[in-house]
Amino acid sequence: MKTFLNILYWFLIVFALIQFIPINRTNKPVDSKVDFVNVYQTPAKIEKLLKIACYDCHSNETVYPKYAYVAPISWSIKNHINKGKGYLNFSEWGTFNRDLKKSMLDKTVNSLQVYSMPMPGYIAQHPEANLSKAERILLTKYFEDIVKTGNY
Ligand code: HEC
Repeated sequence: MKTFLNILYWFLIVFALIQFIPINRTNKPVDSKVDFVNVYQTPAKIEKLLKIACYDCHSNETVYPKYAYVAPISWSIKNHINKGKGYLNFSEWGTFNRDLKKSMLDKTVNSLQVYSMPMPGYIAQHPEANLSKAERILLTKYFEDIVKTGNY
């Protein structure tokens, strides 16, 4: 029992101390000229789905949930956000070259079809991001059509 209390004591101390290592929650400013939804004049319905399901990790419009204020969960969330933006940042779409756009359009289609995005852990905390099959088909078709027109 004594050992257990000792462990608990140190655990609480460490837990309290790590709260002093915050994450940076400041978003970079959004230049709407190069934002994906503005570049393609995305229909409102599609824009809404992207913003609900993808923009928290793939844009400069991240909304941090309440639980993102508690370390070490906050570190893990920040890590996903940084990684997600590193791969694909819809806010900076207009700055991508043609090859990168094509590759990202194809990968987006794929991620929707195989249900790898939005990340399952994110859906668990954001039920509204749990895209239905119909919504996935709608988004997939939208991205495929951009590739088909060649106008990207
Ligand atoms: C909770 C954060 C999060 C959300 C929400 C999210 N993603 Fe991601 N996404 C990531 C991370 C992290 C990666 C980096 C690769 C990995 O770890 O799987 C990534 C990678 C990607 C990639 C690149 C994959 C590759 O192979 O290069 C695409 C495309 C993508 N996401 C599309 C989407 C789309 C579309 C949505 C919305 C339907 C979405 N993501 C929602 C975190 C997220």
